[in-house]
Amino acid sequence: MDVVLRKAKMADVRLIHRMLMDCASKRLLLPRSYTEIYSHLRDFIVAEYLDLSEVVGCCALSITWEGLAEVRSLVVTEGARGQGIGRRLVEACISDALTFGIYKVFVLTYQVDFFRKLGFQEVSKDILPQKVWADCIKCPQFPECDEVALMLEL
Ligand SMILES: CC(C)(COP(=O)(O)OP(=O)(O)OC[C@H]1O[C@@H](n2cnc3c(N)ncnc32)[C@H](O)[C@@H]1OP(=O)(O)O)[C@@H](O)C(=O)NCCC(=O)NCCS
Repeated sequence: MDVVLRKAKMADVRLIHRMLMDCASKRLLLPRSYTEIYSHLRDFIVAEYLDLSEVVGCCALSITWEGLAEVRSLVVTEGARGQGIGRRLVEACISDALTFGIYKVFVLTYQVDFFRKLGFQEVSKDILPQKVWADCIKCPQFPECDEVALMLEL
């Protein structure tokens, strides 16, 4: 089935929330509230089955600091996995980063091998103080976070 990637719209918010909460309940990623999704909606890209107009994945690029952005909220629905959609979503975020003149993209994740395949390399969270002090300290898992930080230098 053909898949298109596009910027997220208001009508996608409930589904984005459901996809993220479903994965959060399995501890695959951190939950995001409706407020966070609405306020960061411009960061989101969704993947859609062209013929069905069915959204099957999402990903967001969040600008963190000068020259630095984070890939967040990456989900592909279970039935749509293994077709390269996750890769395309991350690549779209990377391309977005480049258009902003951002050359470092990081992720905090449990899917280390997936991101390694896309060229990301493991780094210490110590090199991401802007992320730690802006977001991590508000996270219930702080400071016992077991997500792995990976960085891609473009
Ligand atoms: C991780 C996830 C986004 C991958 O999506 P996907 O569409 O199945 O991935 P793709 O088909 O694009 O896979 C790209 C490559 O990564 C590999 N891959 C996919 N998932 C992988 C995983 N969990 N671990 C290691 N490799 C993985 C694929 O085999 C493929 O390799 P290839 O290029 O050699 O063929 C999806 O499994 C998912 O939504 N998981 C739950 C949510 C989650 O963990 N999100 C990450 C939050 S940071």
